Amino acid sequence: MATYLTTPDNSTTQQDPDRRNVIKFGVVGYGYWGPNVVRNLNQIDQAEVLSVCDKSAAARKRIQKTFPNVEVASDTNELMSSTEIDAIAVVTPVWTHYELAKAALENGKHIFVEKPFTSNAAQAEELINLAARKNLKIMVDHTFLFTGAVKRIRQLLDEDALGKLYYYDSTRVNLGLFQHDVNVIWDLGPHDLSIMDHLLGETAEAMVATGQSHLNGHEDVAFITVYFPDKVIAHINVNWLSPVKVRTTLIGGEKKMLVWNDLEADEKIKIYDRGVSVTSQEGLYNLLVNYRSGDMWAPKIEQSEALQRELSYFVNCITKDETPINDGRAGLRVVRMLEAASESLRQRGALVYL
Ligand SMILES: NC(=O)c1ccc[n+]([C@@H]2O[C@H](COP(=O)([O-])OP(=O)(O)OC[C@H]3O[C@@H](n4cnc5c(N)ncnc54)[C@H](O)[C@@H]3O)[C@@H](O)[C@H]2O)c1
Repeated sequence: MATYLTTPDNSTTQQDPDRRNVIKFGVVGYGYWGPNVVRNLNQIDQAEVLSVCDKSAAARKRIQKTFPNVEVASDTNELMSSTEIDAIAVVTPVWTHYELAKAALENGKHIFVEKPFTSNAAQAEELINLAARKNLKIMVDHTFLFTGAVKRIRQLLDEDALGKLYYYDSTRVNLGLFQHDVNVIWDLGPHDLSIMDHLLGETAEAMVATGQSHLNGHEDVAFITVYFPDKVIAHINVNWLSPVKVRTTLIGGEKKMLVWNDLEADEKIKIYDRGVSVTSQEGLYNLLVNYRSGDMWAPKIEQSEALQRELSYFVNCITKDETPINDGRAGLRVVRMLEAASESLRQRGALVYL
């Protein structure tokens, strides 16, 4: 592993003291998402992309054109064995995450791994143990945790602004992008599952998932229900066959309710002072239901790019030796939920306990 902390500089040429704290990255995978990772790393003062690897010649050509100063590799071993590289970002299809992440950790590199962390929980556990033994960091790219919207919702929940939570209901649908190795639950599901894991701070108790594949053998439409403690229920609708893109989440609480429309440019979150209170009299048929319909307000939220904030945080976690909120364990919790959803899907909607 290259040195980046307070290691004395023994070289004969004078090194800029600020450069010694720069974390040097290798990035594997330059398809759809990889360019975003490389671009954002390049904009962080304390990070530098030394090398990008992709097995596709077309992808390598694109890297060279966009980043002429970055080394381009076709074989991941070049990155893994580099003594200069401190951290590897794994931005390849899900089924390759485990092997690449393992090789990186074995070679003493911190890892930033795309969501979902691994293809199964056993792989995630093995990587977590390996990283702990080698004192290396794992960050799983749960990008949404770093959006202004999720940060603001978390703040509202911490302040108990919504009161006791009732439900989380998300619609995350669009046309494509069809993945070749995973179904729509493993592709789009990690976003909501990681958001819920972060916001609710509770481990799911059980899941139900139904879905159907129409085109490439992988489910392209799916509906997931997650049961949390204290009667909190979540529903996620994920779909690659929707004519329009929808990114809308409702979060209902006893005191207030919230609508988060991620496609809105300005007022992404609207908080409604609306709700229902029930006063029971003698017997079920004498319930008095009172509806409250108060004001709506849209809080200001940060607009900067979530991936950049997340990658800066990763660099800080490495240099300050801190554990990220989206570490391997957070990745594992999401993979466990995905496994439970897959099991339920196989049994056409059976209730599966976690
Ligand atoms: N965080 C997010 O919001 C977000 C968004 C999109 C995708 N992703 C994740 O990013 C990952 C990649 O998705 P994508 O849509 O960019 O996929 P993609 O298929 O577009 O790109 C993957 C690239 O990796 C390369 N590759 C595959 N195996 C390799 C290997 N062993 N060595 C070198 N190169 C290799 C391929 O040639 C390809 O160029 C997935 O895990 C996906 O879930 C995350």
